[in-house]
Amino acid sequence: MLEQLEQLRLEALEKLAAIADGEALDGWEKRFIGRKGAVTEMTRRVGELSKDERPEFGRRVNEIKQALSAAYEARAATVQSAEMERRLASGALDVSLPGRPKLLGRLHPSTQILRDIFRIWGDMGFQVYRSPDVETDENNFQLLNIPPDHPARDMWATFYTTREGIILRTHTSPGQIRAMRQYCPEPIRVILPGMCYRYEQVTARHETQFYQVEGLAVGNQITMSDLKGTLSSFTRRLFGPERETRFRPSYFPFTEPSAEMDVECILCEGKGCAVCKQTGWVEILGCGMVHPVVLQNGGYDPAKYTGFAFGMGSERIAMLKYGINDIRYFWSNDLRFLEQF
Ligand code: DAH
Repeated sequence: MLEQLEQLRLEALEKLAAIADGEALDGWEKRFIGRKGAVTEMTRRVGELSKDERPEFGRRVNEIKQALSAAYEARAATVQSAEMERRLASGALDVSLPGRPKLLGRLHPSTQILRDIFRIWGDMGFQVYRSPDVETDENNFQLLNIPPDHPARDMWATFYTTREGIILRTHTSPGQIRAMRQYCPEPIRVILPGMCYRYEQVTARHETQFYQVEGLAVGNQITMSDLKGTLSSFTRRLFGPERETRFRPSYFPFTEPSAEMDVECILCEGKGCAVCKQTGWVEILGCGMVHPVVLQNGGYDPAKYTGFAFGMGSERIAMLKYGINDIRYFWSNDLRFLEQF
């Protein structure tokens, strides 16, 4: 039986030396030194021997079991590191591979231009005042000196709601009434940004919704030259100091006198093109001295207070600044357009 034992030892070592993977290694462990393995079986057969032979055999079995266990550990370590080498060499994990790019969103061009505009007015001491998109006919028209059925209403194609007297604001000017009624009799310096809505045929220059940024200054010594100087500072900062601007007399029911401001066409540098309709100028805002009736409606005594106001279309300004020739790009959500900003 000692001989059998020796055979077993040799066989086990031979098999172990040939093993190259973890699975085979587990199999070997079970077969030879596990709880039901061949070497363990041998210890149970000790009863078949004579009393004299037993001690020698027992010692030898234990020796062999220990030697095989040690050989097993050593082999396991070699197999493991060989497997690791093989995995690295086969390139299952290539640490030099570039990562997948994260798609980053960006600000809509309308938001970008609004932020530029807010920053400039903020530096001049104008704070942002928000007023609602859904307005009363009274704020949107009547208190701005536009009575019902007045022909001036034709300037604003209006979206009506099913509620009598409730409309979508056609401009940000009704916010002037709200700001005046809140701050009266304090002086005011605010800008009022917001979406406006008009029942228009959509074309390259007209949309049914667009942003306006309204401005309002009320105090006891505000003059037309303040209006002109303030707006000139604004356009110089927004378009650069070399860009020409001009004021033109105009008409709005809520200002007297009224004006419009034009900027030299950026696309043709004033030479004349399709965008500026060959005039070399593009209108960017309406403005004027707040009409005494409107001041009164806001709670201010027109004998003591004066003010100026303006309203600009920010998409129109973005179009000029970035050379965009169709306003429909802004809300058509075409990534090829949006990704350019
Ligand atoms: N609300 C006018 C419009 O939508 C623009 C405007 C003109 C606003 C003159 C003003 C202003 O505050 O003084 O066409």
